[in-house]
Amino acid sequence: MTGPHDAAEYGRFIAADYDALYEGVFDTEGAVARLAGLAAGGPVLELGVGTGRLAIPLAERGLAVHGVDGSPEMLALLAAKPGGEAVSTTVGDFAELDVPGTFALAAITFNTIFALPDQASQVRCFASTARHLRPGGRFVVEAWVPDAAVGPDSQLSTRKLAGGYVGLVVAEHDRASQVLRTTQVVLGGAAGVRVYPVVHRYAHPAELDLMAQLAGMRLEHRWADWHGSAYVSTSPQHVSVYRLG
Ligand SMILES: C[S@@+](CC[C@H](N)C(=O)[O-])C[C@H]1O[C@@H](n2cnc3c(N)ncnc32)[C@H](O)[C@@H]1O
Repeated sequence: MTGPHDAAEYGRFIAADYDALYEGVFDTEGAVARLAGLAAGGPVLELGVGTGRLAIPLAERGLAVHGVDGSPEMLALLAAKPGGEAVSTTVGDFAELDVPGTFALAAITFNTIFALPDQASQVRCFASTARHLRPGGRFVVEAWVPDAAVGPDSQLSTRKLAGGYVGLVVAEHDRASQVLRTTQVVLGGAAGVRVYPVVHRYAHPAELDLMAQLAGMRLEHRWADWHGSAYVSTSPQHVSVYRLG
């Protein structure tokens, strides 16, 4: 176990810049279409809802969407956006989810499951998510695949960001604890140079599958992207769909 996790830390550093840095970088349309299809009209719970990149377009499709996030700054940005009022939110740690109601679909996207600092908190996240699903409900996890992306010790790489920004990532890797500590240095924009620390306790898809099993869920689909492309041994990321019961 590491020390107590600060669920608000990520947003404290990045909230004001998040949308500008990642504008156009993600397949947001593909994710929204896939998530809406899996929800099939039922209510949606997003863990780490952030500034509402997915939650707002899902609500615009007529779905009831509830978002949980540890960062009041990120949630304030969501609420201020057009359509943000349609997304209900809770400030809290998604390792210990406790929100009213049950959902047809829960989702945790963009590697956010790895924001939890250790295996125990990730297991609790799967378990508390399962308690918030309706019978037959689904949990979607989008994350990077460790083997494809993690070098042995420390490394420097570039990161794709929105136009006008350059991202350099310095990573320190501890294989023993499956922790990748990155410092993202962003150049560009009005503020010049900024530094964002991000720590991922990563897990191979097989470990996530076991967490799902412990929570009473089973793997229904694993794709390489939001469009259902086949997941193969070289896929750098996965979209996994777990089903309760
Ligand atoms: C990478 S952002 C993803 C935001 C959004 N889901 C998206 O795809 O654009 C991760 C979000 O998770 C939140 N977060 C990180 N750890 C958390 C935790 N333990 N509990 C609740 N929220 C957390 C951060 O504040 C941030 O808004």
